[in-house]
Amino acid sequence: MIQAATSIPSLDRIVNVSSVPQRSPFRYPGGKTWLVPLVRKWLGSLETGAARLVEPFAGGGIVGLTAAFEGLAKQVVMVELDADVGSVWQTVLNGGGESLARRIMEFHCDLATVKRTLATCPVKLPDIAFRTLLRNRVQHGGILAHGASLMKNGENGKGITSRWYPETLARRIRDIAGIKERISFIQGDGISYLQKTRRSRRTVYFVDPPYTIAGRRLYTHAKIDHEKLFRILSRTKGDFLMTYDDAAEIRSLAEQHGFAMFRVSMQGRLNTKKKELLIGKNLDWVREASPVFPTSS
Ligand SMILES: C[S@@+](CC[C@H](N)C(=O)[O-])C[C@H]1O[C@@H](n2cnc3c(N)ncnc32)[C@H](O)[C@@H]1O
Repeated sequence: MIQAATSIPSLDRIVNVSSVPQRSPFRYPGGKTWLVPLVRKWLGSLETGAARLVEPFAGGGIVGLTAAFEGLAKQVVMVELDADVGSVWQTVLNGGGESLARRIMEFHCDLATVKRTLATCPVKLPDIAFRTLLRNRVQHGGILAHGASLMKNGENGKGITSRWYPETLARRIRDIAGIKERISFIQGDGISYLQKTRRSRRTVYFVDPPYTIAGRRLYTHAKIDHEKLFRILSRTKGDFLMTYDDAAEIRSLAEQHGFAMFRVSMQGRLNTKKKELLIGKNLDWVREASPVFPTSS
């Protein structure tokens, strides 16, 4: 049975992201910077703390990075299927951070050099990583999926380089490389990784899969078995926090598995207000986390 919208509690205040340092080198479509304040509350609410935080659909990895930088979990594991995105994490976490940062600083970014670089088909990991970060910065919405186009006017009409901030990118990469012992990266299928680790009590999961509706346009890998994901999560020993688009299919799956749901407001692209679903075994901490708690909407 599909749970009616009216029976799902709702957090209507837009989460204030001003306290969230931007740590990812990506500007990631569907990125969860806006959720970080709530993730902090979630990890803080866990009785035994998190020995290991797994992000099975890591993307730009803002949640895992925040947990690693702020000591919210002892160890962070990021899993991502997209090999291009993975090349960045592998390079930065396996000793290539400094040379990637230097290359970014030395790159002269204009339309001609961008086009020339994007026309190459690199095979070495650091080269793939550099090209991926460049694509992420010069393509519309940071979209890396096949068919994404170059920004034309960019931010404030500044053209293709408007999102290329070499100093900021280099600093973020160096900062992440500085704590690489706390983060592991696996390029592969997040669902298989969940299945493999589900018996560990002190492993918790932040699950942010490609959404049912927007996923196809945003990611190279957007098709996942949502039912299987819910089934495995219902068998994990450790806790999880999952986000999804507020779709009937997803509500129904959450209800079938006896999961708690919360609707949270977020600011979408072009300042549109949207509601997304938070799903977990127990979301009482959301109630405790918000002093002015609005009831059902
Ligand atoms: C909603 S995005 C994650 C965004 C991320 N939470 C952030 O804040 O940047 C979903 C990600 O899942 C990845 N993905 C899709 N299928 C996957 C799979 N089977 N295993 C691991 N990652 C997958 C996509 O490539 C995409 O990067």
